This record gives sequence, C-alpha cells and structure tokens, in this order.
Amino acid sequence: MENFTFHNTTDIRFGKDRFDQELKDAVSQFGNRVLLTYGGGSIKKSGLYDRVMKALPGLQVTELAGIEPNPKIASVREGQKLVKENDIDVILAVGGGSVIDASKVIASAKFYEGDPWDLVLDSKKRFAIDQLPIVDILTLSATGTEMNTGSVISNPETTQKLGTGGPNTPAVSFLDPSLTYTVSKWQTAAGSIDIFSHLTEQYFDQKGYENDVRNGLIEGIMRAVIKWAPVALKDPENYDARANLMWASTMALNGLPRTGNVNSWTVHPIEHELSAYYDITHGVGLGILTPHWMDFVYSEATRPWFVSFGRNVWNITGDDDDLIAKEAIAKTREWLASLEVPTTLPGVDIETDENFAAMAASAVKVNKLDQKAFVTMTEKDVVSLLEAS
Ligand code: NZQ
Ligand code: ZN
Repeated sequence: MENFTFHNTTDIRFGKDRFDQELKDAVSQFGNRVLLTYGGGSIKKSGLYDRVMKALPGLQVTELAGIEPNPKIASVREGQKLVKENDIDVILAVGGGSVIDASKVIASAKFYEGDPWDLVLDSKKRFAIDQLPIVDILTLSATGTEMNTGSVISNPETTQKLGTGGPNTPAVSFLDPSLTYTVSKWQTAAGSIDIFSHLTEQYFDQKGYENDVRNGLIEGIMRAVIKWAPVALKDPENYDARANLMWASTMALNGLPRTGNVNSWTVHPIEHELSAYYDITHGVGLGILTPHWMDFVYSEATRPWFVSFGRNVWNITGDDDDLIAKEAIAKTREWLASLEVPTTLPGVDIETDENFAAMAASAVKVNKLDQKAFVTMTEKDVVSLLEAS
C-alpha cells in the first residue's frame, strides 16, 4: 500500500426532508448574501425551488439559473459576475453534478480578476486564491461532486471539456434520496453507470492488488450499484434503491476508494472527448466505452484484477481464471445493456470517425494515457477503441 493522506471536511446531511429545517442555518453560518444556482428548470417543476426559497427566510438570494448538463464556461462567467457584483458570501447549489461543478468554479472565480477559463486550464491558480463555501442539495446520484473537490467544465469555443480541482469540497451537502424520484430513466441509468465507472477506474489500478481494505470497499459499492440501478429504473420511487445509489455516488468519489494506490483514469478522459465534441450524456458515453476498454486491458498480466472482480463483484465461481475474467467482462456488458441506454456510438448518433484522431490525441495528452494508465494507451489504441465502440 502506498502512503496517503485522507482529509475530507464535507458535512453530510443524509436523509429525507431534512433541508426544510436545516438549510437556513447551514447556509447562514457563512453569511446572508447567497447565490442560488440551478439548472434548466427541473427544480421548479418538482416543487423543490419553492421549498428551498421557503427555507431561506431573511436571506438575500441572487439567482443563477440555466446551468446546462456538461456545464459550459459561459455559466461560470455569468456566475463570476454575480458573485462579485453582489458580494456573495456563500453559494447554494441545487441540482446534479453540472450545477455543483459550475458552482465550485464560480466560488473560486469570485477571487479572480481574469477569465475563469484560466482557472480551469490551470487548477494551481485556484489554490493561490480563496474559494466561497458551497452548500448543495443534490438532486441526481452520479458524480460524487457532493463530497469532492472536482469539477468538469466545457468550452464549446475550443471543443474542450476539462477537469479542474479546487482547494475545498462542499461545506455542507444535503443528500435526500427522495429528491431523485423525478430523475428520468435515462439520467438514472447514466448516473448509475457513472458511479460504476468511478469504481472501475479506481479498482483497476496500477498497484493495489494487495490493498484488501480498498478493494473490499469498492467491490461492496459496485455490488450495491449493480443491484439497485435496475430497481430504481423499474420503480423510481423506491427509497432504498434511491438511497443506495445516492450514497454509492458519494462514496465512490470522495477519495476513500483511491486510498493507498496509484490512480490514473482512462475511460473518463476518453469520454470527456465524446462529450466535448458531441455533447452526449457523460454516463452513457462511459457505458459505451467501458466494456471495450476492459477487452483492451485484459491480459495475463491484468488477470488477477479481473478474477477478483469476477469472484467478488459478480459472484462467479470455478477454477479457470481466464474463464472467470472473461465472464466478468461479459456480465458487465450485460448489466450495462440491461439499463436500456445505447451501448454503441452510433446509438448516440456518432456515426463518423472524422474527429477520432483529434479526440484521441487530446485524451492521451490530457491524462498522459501513454505514460501512466492501468494499461497505457497510445493515440492509435484510443482510435481503435473508439472505432470498436
Ligand atoms: O438542468 P435540470 O433542469 O435541473 O435537469 C437536469 C439535467 O437535465 C436533470 N435533473 C437533475 N436532477 C433532477 C433532474 N431531472 C429531474 N429530477 C431531478 N431530481 O438531469 C439532467 C442532467 O443533470 P447533470 O447535472 O448534468 O447530471 P450529472 O449529475 O450526471 O452531472 C454530469 C456532469 O458532471 C461531470 C460530468 O462530466 C458532467 O459534466 N462529472 C463531474 C465529476 C466531479 N465533479 O467529480 C466527476 C464525474 O466523472 C463527471 O465527469
Ligand atoms: Zn464520471
């Protein structure tokens, strides 16, 4: 096991209907001037917006609405203007990963005089400045942003979708599974695949085969996602399903599953290119790519990971390790297909390969895939993977 530091200060408030009573104190501990951020209107349709406003009597609330999925730098720029003009004390982000991700960068941009895209291109700049506290109410189980420092921001002008890390995780995260009852089948499936992918990216690690604590943690969360995603799809108001998916989302990417290993991700940087070029749903892209990536990385050298994955996650028994490993990949494929989202690139209207070379070059460069992945990939390998998808 490698040395590691684990430090995470997010105050998690998990459970049904807590924020109506607790939100005001959680927010006002940081001041009275609040920027409320949200997406394209799901919170108005569901009635959540009214509940939130009712829970904030006496606070001065400025709003930034319309943060899109795959949040664009334009929203961050708009937010930067609002936090400066209104001398905002705290951001209240109500929504999915896109709203919370954009809010984190806006939180840094209050203390930056230039264009916030600079902060995305160079996260180090964010560590040299302050960051407003974020309180969030999560409405979609997927990204883990509710308990991590990351954001992913798109810039359509440069066809880039890039990750950026800041100094702080959200100060307070309200995780109310019942708020996800209204999440569509498409987004429920995509979110569940995203959680699963965060786990595979960390499980198939360059070291870590002997790290039983971490392996067991990841395997347990994987089993929960595999079990409960289909239940949530069939029965959207099943509290146990929504609760398991929500806590799995948080646990999968709050830093714990990466402890003691050497992590470097592969499928995510490739998917971010798909979203950058075609604006597709992140989790759907991951589900398309993951089985092909597994085919690519599987070999005698990586077999031990796949055998553990097969035995401990998919409950496959037997003595033939090669068979167990291949069966584990097959079962992953089957589970992804069972979630009723497209499993091929043509299925999300990506019919031609005209951008694949540029996308592969960018993915390899952004995450140094040719140097430090679980199994390294050249640009040519990435193009082949995209073609196979
Ligand atoms: O915009 P509204 O109207 O709110 O609708 C949203 C949006 O259309 C809707 N939605 C959210 N909660 C809902 C709901 N609809 C009905 N009922 C609810 N309760 O769902 C749609 C998608 O929302 P979005 O926030 O985009 O989804 P998600 O949470 O999956 O976030 C995806 C973004 O996060 C990034 C992704 O790349 C993508 O940009 N990621 C962030 C990470 C991080 N910060 O650590 C890690 C991830 O790997 C990921 O890359
Ligand atoms: Zn993800």
